[in-house]
Amino acid sequence: MTMKTVSPDSWKRGMDFLGVRHAVMGGAMSWLSERHLVAAISRAGGFGVLATGSMPVEMAREEVRAVRAMTDHPFGINLIVMNPALPDFVAMVIEEKVTHCVLAGGLPARETVETLRAAGVKVILFAPSLALAKRLIQRGADALIIEGHEAGGHVGPVSTMVLVQEILPYIRDVPVFVAGGIADGAVTATMAALGAAGVQVGTRFVCAQECVAHANFKQRFIQAQARDAVVTVQFDAALPVIPVRALANKGTELFNRLQLDLVRQVREGSKARADAQLELEHFWAGALRRAAIDGDVEHGSVMAGQSVGMVRSIQPAASIIEELVERLA
Ligand SMILES: Cc1cc2nc3c(=O)[nH]c(=O)nc-3n(C[C@H](O)[C@H](O)[C@H](O)COP(=O)(O)O)c2cc1C
Repeated sequence: MTMKTVSPDSWKRGMDFLGVRHAVMGGAMSWLSERHLVAAISRAGGFGVLATGSMPVEMAREEVRAVRAMTDHPFGINLIVMNPALPDFVAMVIEEKVTHCVLAGGLPARETVETLRAAGVKVILFAPSLALAKRLIQRGADALIIEGHEAGGHVGPVSTMVLVQEILPYIRDVPVFVAGGIADGAVTATMAALGAAGVQVGTRFVCAQECVAHANFKQRFIQAQARDAVVTVQFDAALPVIPVRALANKGTELFNRLQLDLVRQVREGSKARADAQLELEHFWAGALRRAAIDGDVEHGSVMAGQSVGMVRSIQPAASIIEELVERLA
């Protein structure tokens, strides 16, 4: 029998902020967080977040409309700050009256945040440290996400365990959601008790029945242990790279070779650092598609968090959410 605890005020605040029954955000995952998974999470009382990193703006608009056609429940959208087409995406979010926008992949310009907020869109930002969390609130963040090193995809250097101690007790102005390594009801209830407004979960939702991931991709998740989800290494400070956590395979080797080649070009002066960094990001988008959609889990990128070790079967999104909130009233 599972022991239930009464939802703490912080969790209720998260539910109110998102407008949902369960303050569980389905973290945006490129290629995977499209209409089906987003609608399924939102219909189940959670908060689905559309990923846009891999698509042109008009395709993202279609996804927004498709989710609306599938459910009346609230959902959000994730925009990548370094995307050169960011202003077009911001305009689309406003035109389509999306209620919540997560800005990921860098520090957003004040103007971006102000434009969204002036149109009534709630803006959610990632806070990698306490100092930055305070700055982001000054910049207009309506809510923050703190995401630990355990997470899948692009990751920061600090663990969830440390971030919740460093940041959660000191931010009261806005709701704070916790991400990275969240996989069961006990840890979700603990985060709520520590003052989290909710959790954001990616890895566990990959094996949702409604997720479009290729069967090979889901199978890799079910087989993998926590220790298989490793982060990439940066070879040279001349080319700073954001670490990516994925299951080790030949795709990781391909990334390493590309990185070495780009380091050489940057050092020689034949390629600008920013161009090399963009090339690496394009590599990841393509490699994730190759594995997650085409099913080539050897040469593509199987991005996964350490909680992959706790993914044991393919389940409806609704039952994943039920497990996550089973200790909360
Ligand atoms: C396959 C995969 C793709 C992801 N793609 C994105 C993305 O496009 N944008 C983003 O902000 N986060 C992305 N993430 C991070 C998730 O949104 C979420 O914050 C993270 O998965 C939470 O940690 P967890 O994996 O331990 O549950 C991705 C994660 C995974 C596993």
